[in-house]
Amino acid sequence: MVKVTFVSADGTSVEVEGEEGRSLMECAIDNMIPEIEGQCGGGGACATCHCYPREEWSESLSPKGDFEEATLEGGLSEVKPNSRLACQIFLSAENNGLIIDLPESGY
Ligand code: FES
Repeated sequence: MVKVTFVSADGTSVEVEGEEGRSLMECAIDNMIPEIEGQCGGGGACATCHCYPREEWSESLSPKGDFEEATLEGGLSEVKPNSRLACQIFLSAENNGLIIDLPESGY
């Protein structure tokens, strides 16, 4: 299992565990993290899984795809240099302990 800490905009944090190979979006849904909705089911089309992995984890994550930036721009939350779609991040031993900041609006 991979440990993930989700940090809400108000500073509240929740530590959960997710299965290796599952997406960060699925992990959030499994653990009822309200800021992550995953409306398109992981297709990279809706931006309702917008999240901000902490910079120190950037090396352990798969690179951001070209379409990901466009989807993020179409969402409601502020796009930052570390913005990602949680459905495009997959849990692995390399990102065990991952810390994810969440957007204020939910997406
Ligand atoms: S779940 Fe829709 S873009 Fe990630």
